[in-house]
Amino acid sequence: MKGIQRQTASASGAPFFRALKERMAMALSIRSGTNDDLSLLAQMNKRLIEDEGSRKPMSVAELERRMRGWLESGWLIDIFLEDGSVIGYAVYRRCTDDYHPDQTVIHLRQLFIERGHRNRGLGTLAFRDLVRTKFPRRSTVVIDVLASNPKGLTFWERLGFRAYSTKMRLD
Ligand SMILES: CC(C)(COP(=O)(O)OP(=O)(O)OC[C@H]1O[C@@H](n2cnc3c(N)ncnc32)[C@H](O)[C@@H]1OP(=O)(O)O)[C@@H](O)C(=O)NCCC(=O)NCCS
Repeated sequence: MKGIQRQTASASGAPFFRALKERMAMALSIRSGTNDDLSLLAQMNKRLIEDEGSRKPMSVAELERRMRGWLESGWLIDIFLEDGSVIGYAVYRRCTDDYHPDQTVIHLRQLFIERGHRNRGLGTLAFRDLVRTKFPRRSTVVIDVLASNPKGLTFWERLGFRAYSTKMRLD
């Protein structure tokens, strides 16, 4: 099962998240990913695939080629840093709503925080910073969550996403 979750990205200034940010001693920053990051991005992508329980059989080399293709075809890749060290990344693209062409949709394809840095609020901060600084105001954000990734589902639900559709398989 693969649920598509939607959220209108408009709550970037919510007091809860400002307070969360103030409580966190870490300095999270975001920079754009480039070809120089592809090797590291592919390794993180491999760990993301393992962690979400995906069936995807791609090797790190194949993932690196796919990442390069994404960079060349309009996908944006952002790198998250804590105190200057890479701790995760996001891949996303701007599109328009199928039924309302005037409405901007962000397809957030991947969001990953390294294993040793999880459960400290960094994923939440990273997403909120993307909404605040990278995504157009009032865009709808769409993600896919695998049924094999209940922790990921909880994470998105806490951020306000709600299931929109369910993809089913009969093997
Ligand atoms: C999903 C993912 C991005 C979350 O990143 P994270 O940095 O752990 O996220 P947060 O710390 O903001 O939130 C995770 C949990 O920590 C809790 N948390 C937040 N701030 C916290 C803090 N200061 N102290 C302790 N726990 C905290 C949150 O309540 C949340 O709890 P939940 O499991 O009930 O949702 C990360 O686990 C990941 O990369 N997973 C593998 C890839 C993946 O599944 N990506 C999403 C694909 S759909």
